[in-house]
Amino acid sequence: MLQPTASTDAVTVRAPAKINLSLCCGPLRPDGFHDLLTVYQAVSLYDDVSVTEADHLELSVVGEGAADVPVGHDNLAARAVIALAELVGRRPDVSISISKGIPVAGGMAGGSADAAATLVACDALWRTAVPIDELLRVAADLGSDVPFSVVGGTALGTGRGERVEALPAAGTCHWVIVMADGGLSTPVVFAETDRLRTRDVALRHTGPVPAEVLAALATGEAATLAAVLGNDLQPAALSLRPDLSDTLTAGLERGALAALVSGSGPTCLFLASSASDAERLAARLRDDGVGRRVCCAAGPVDGARVLAESH
Ligand code: C5P
Repeated sequence: MLQPTASTDAVTVRAPAKINLSLCCGPLRPDGFHDLLTVYQAVSLYDDVSVTEADHLELSVVGEGAADVPVGHDNLAARAVIALAELVGRRPDVSISISKGIPVAGGMAGGSADAAATLVACDALWRTAVPIDELLRVAADLGSDVPFSVVGGTALGTGRGERVEALPAAGTCHWVIVMADGGLSTPVVFAETDRLRTRDVALRHTGPVPAEVLAALATGEAATLAAVLGNDLQPAALSLRPDLSDTLTAGLERGALAALVSGSGPTCLFLASSASDAERLAARLRDDGVGRRVCCAAGPVDGARVLAESH
């Protein structure tokens, strides 16, 4: 039987950025999406989302790139509240405060992280204890990357990316993340991918996740993983933003084990063998003025999790 509980007044949830260690993109589907076979990893770059009860749904954003984030009901976090409220049969009257650490439109699923954090936060605020399967269904309707932002860790993504399954991964990956000026629109990058492809390369991978990616993850060795990283969206991102080629080269020249565009870009990722190597590489890139901002992150980390609740 349900017991009456004291109401929680504020909940803060932290959600991580995602990277794609491997992203294989199939051809355009009739519904406008592409089938993906991707290995996601959640990394230690975060957005924090706080929710409190309010008279009506409202949203504010501070931090990295806040000025570029819409604050209306079209914001993915606002849509997340509306969808969850509908599911549990209540009004979506909450105030959402987002503190951004994940680059906006950077190919690291920052909007998806906010939506995932908001789902988890409202579920805690309202004490609705929505089963994880249902929460993931709501998440999938909001966006292809949102379910992964809920679960985090290292996972295989299939379908349009919304079907996620945890993968075993040994050790910690150390990344240097170079953020670029401006953003890239995800649909534009997918469309450019279609444009660049000829029919014979349209389906690079149709089977299960390449065995070598799984094997590399199991070893936990950075050099082994470096050899199997890949992103089918990278040619399109580089076609739209040729300057990113220089960024990738700059990282490799300064000692990165591997370099790749993150998701649909324009953020670039560099794999290092250790936390200290990552720090050294980041310092060199900063000194040489590469990118708009350079930071280090490690993965895998948890998905959207409650940081604080106050009564
Ligand atoms: O799912 P999400 O809202 O993040 O997708 C944004 C857009 O990116 C879609 O409307 C679609 O144009 C493109 N997309 C795609 N294939 C995917 C995921 C996204 O074409 N698997």
